[in-house]
Amino acid sequence: MIGRLNHVAIVVPDLGPATALYRDTLGASVSAPVDLPEHGVTTVFVELPNTKIELLHPLGEGSPIAKFLASNPAGGIHHVCYEVDDILAARDRLKADGLRVLGDGEPRIGAHGKPVLFLHPKDCLGTLVEIEQA
Ligand code: CO
Repeated sequence: MIGRLNHVAIVVPDLGPATALYRDTLGASVSAPVDLPEHGVTTVFVELPNTKIELLHPLGEGSPIAKFLASNPAGGIHHVCYEVDDILAARDRLKADGLRVLGDGEPRIGAHGKPVLFLHPKDCLGTLVEIEQA
């Protein structure tokens, strides 16, 4: 059911040095920082030949990643995102298998303008999993 790895999201304490690491040291192609106020994050997109890395930093009050950064002050992997063809069919199948979908269970529009859902990390080997309708 899941397809390509769309991205790995990494929460970082400071986007400047994080961007420099990926651009200058690791030699990747990186975007300028993009504010996504509806998601409470500022993102730098790192383009790799086969997938993306998203560097995330909290934006504004009540950012959904503020607590994660407080618990992981040096940063850390926050979630992985897999592509699916049909997000509602994927959701229904996962729920039928007992996985918990976060929030109200309805897809939201994610950072790429596509519908996304998040699965409870306790049901996914301790990893927050995002599925995106590609
Ligand atoms: Co994501």
